[in-house]
Amino acid sequence: MSKYANMFSPIKLGRLEIKNRVFMSPHGMVGLGIGTDKQVGYFEARAKGGAGMMVIASCQVVPAPLVPPGWFIEAYNPEHIPAIRRIVDAAHKHGAKIAVQGVWMMADPATAQPSGIAPHTVLSDSQPRSMTTAEVEELIEAHAVAALHAQEAGADGFEFPISGGAGLGSFTSEFYNQRTDKYGGSLENRMRAIVEIVEAIRRRVSPDFAIGIAVNADESTLGAAGIDDGVAQCKILEATGMVDWLRITARGQKPQMTQYHYPSSYLEQEGTHLDAAAAVKKAVKLPVVSGGRIMTPAFADQAIADGRCDMVFVARSVIADPEWPNKCRDDRLTEIRACIGDLEGCFLRSCFGQAVGCTVNPDIGYEYLGDVEPAAQPRHVVIAGAGPAGLQAALVAAQRGHKVTVLEKSDQIGGHVTLQAMLPGLSDRADIVRWLKLQLDKLGVEVRLNTEATAQSVAALAPDAVLVATGARYSKTGASKNQLTGVKGAQWEHVFTPEEVMLEHARLGKRIVVYDNTSYEVGPGIAEYLASKGKEVVFVTMDAAMAMSVTELGLNKVIAKRVIPKVTFLPSTEIREITPADVRVRNVFTGEETVLDAIDSTVLVTSKPPQEALYHALLGSGIDVRIIGDAREARWSVFATDEAIKDGRRAALAL
Ligand SMILES: Cc1cc2nc3c(=O)[nH]c(=O)nc-3n(C[C@H](O)[C@H](O)[C@H](O)COP(=O)(O)OP(=O)(O)OC[C@H]3O[C@@H](n4cnc5c(N)ncnc54)[C@H](O)[C@@H]3O)c2cc1C
Ligand SMILES: Cc1cc2nc3c(=O)[nH]c(=O)nc-3n(C[C@H](O)[C@H](O)[C@H](O)COP(=O)(O)O)c2cc1C
Ligand code: SF4
Repeated sequence: MSKYANMFSPIKLGRLEIKNRVFMSPHGMVGLGIGTDKQVGYFEARAKGGAGMMVIASCQVVPAPLVPPGWFIEAYNPEHIPAIRRIVDAAHKHGAKIAVQGVWMMADPATAQPSGIAPHTVLSDSQPRSMTTAEVEELIEAHAVAALHAQEAGADGFEFPISGGAGLGSFTSEFYNQRTDKYGGSLENRMRAIVEIVEAIRRRVSPDFAIGIAVNADESTLGAAGIDDGVAQCKILEATGMVDWLRITARGQKPQMTQYHYPSSYLEQEGTHLDAAAAVKKAVKLPVVSGGRIMTPAFADQAIADGRCDMVFVARSVIADPEWPNKCRDDRLTEIRACIGDLEGCFLRSCFGQAVGCTVNPDIGYEYLGDVEPAAQPRHVVIAGAGPAGLQAALVAAQRGHKVTVLEKSDQIGGHVTLQAMLPGLSDRADIVRWLKLQLDKLGVEVRLNTEATAQSVAALAPDAVLVATGARYSKTGASKNQLTGVKGAQWEHVFTPEEVMLEHARLGKRIVVYDNTSYEVGPGIAEYLASKGKEVVFVTMDAAMAMSVTELGLNKVIAKRVIPKVTFLPSTEIREITPADVRVRNVFTGEETVLDAIDSTVLVTSKPPQEALYHALLGSGIDVRIIGDAREARWSVFATDEAIKDGRRAALAL
């Protein structure tokens, strides 16, 4: 029996028998196609990895012209039934049960235009017109048709969200729903459309087919209803006698405070939604599924034991490691490739309209290919640099049977990820390095520390191929896309880069300017780190706010809220000159110049030139040489680690 007996005991959702309490929460892995090997393989890997229950995310219940084609399964479209069937069959093969999530994104089924309709005109990025009563009835019917399609495809159930940024939340929310007909007003009226959807589905499907509802039980972040309203909604759902599970989240308890129902970031603790779930559980007998940033079986098991939920939902832990459930069950915790909660490879990609992946797991979408193919001809591969790009490349190259030697000039592996992990709140990042090292040790890969790769030292090893993964280092000139000529005075000895401050133990004075022109989390992170060491920090940026590149995630607000009280914040400001004693700055809008006096040190968080000299030196040597990670293309903002790891994988597969 598993050490985590609660988590790995069976449970019933309606008539469905689920083998354990791990519920793979719906997550739209856009970019894998519809019913393709990539999409099916994604689900199969996670079913094989041990999830008891799974949900196929965001299947549309009406045509949604605003959604890019091919992003989500069209549950309304009978032509998509075979795609659902392929996924369902793959999940069933490994003993998992699987439901379709039907989602209405407020698209208007009557028009082919990318326009929306809403229960009542809502305050969002736009304000679509209010629905007629006939349109509400049409929408109810659309959910029933979608559920029937799911059943025809062999799915075990149908889940739909009624809050948390989904369209139906504009019915349930007293904040959004201002209708005066039978679908607006009292709680019963606001829930009427939802109850009618449940009834319509139940009339169509067999009694064995389960119905689940995702309820955001605390919408208070935006000033809307809190947990009492959420609990009352759940009681109404239970009273129908037709609902088989409630999946509970609580947007109001998350720190990001965006309009949308985002997963919580690394800044949140395990079990983000469990307080709301516990409140719901006290009021209903239905199985309650909940979680949020669940990372460890000990926590999950205890949450179930404490009666805070009956099943735990996990999205990102199984994105990062498809085997997460089985590794938890077997207590093989050191084997888990942990989610670092950065939200970049997954959620942020989709915000930018890009294919979704995972920062730490470069194998997303390739699961269907199985284990990596052995190389046709094993070679001796030297990898220069043991950052994430070099380490991932070493892993895949060794898995393919190549003899791998990694040269690292510093006294530790990890490259800039080690630096990331030193910043406040980012210690989880170190797991990237820990996990890769564990794999390399198992494969017997030789890693030589304190060994600089030069054209001569590499040639002396007589390798068949070299991967240059030497990374990038922050500019010493202060040049950035906003200030191409650099910062006057950057050459002074009291001006430092992040590497010098964090890794090379530069001696800093008491009063420090941190100049950030990367719009990312690094500048604020370093400012907070220095403030925590008792330094007086002035944070200067040409941007109007902090960490603008993570605005889509709402993380900019959390970071600003955390860092601004600890520093003096000068937005929309450029450094004109650093002198031995002070820093002259100018407001980029008014042109007004001021002097920050008695500044002991300045830290430049600006551009990051690739460390590419080794690559160029080796090019004419006759050795097969390739360049990867930041050394190939340095990124100082989002997706940097993600790209470095993917690059390492790609390069090693091409050897
Ligand atoms: C403070 C900070 C926070 C960050 N936060 C994030 C984040 O939140 N998300 C994100 O995606 N990215 C972030 N990044 C960026 C990310 O860490 C890098 O983009 C990523 O580490 C690049 O990986 P890499 O393997 O290409 O290079 P690096 O990580 O730079 O590794 C290169 C390695 O090569 C070694 N090396 C260099 N020259 C030689 C040589 N000649 N011989 C042998 N070894 C050599 C170096 O010592 C180093 O260990 C952050 C960076 C910093 C500094
Ligand atoms: C990339 C991504 C896509 C998601 N898409 C959906 C979705 O389509 N429907 C949904 O209800 N939740 C979606 N979610 C939210 C998850 O179901 C889950 O509630 C959230 O990620 C918190 O769980 P976690 O901390 O275990 O990741 C998504 C999450 C991620 C990371
Ligand atoms: S991209 Fe980041 S947050 Fe998303 S699953 Fe991967 S590690 Fe976790």
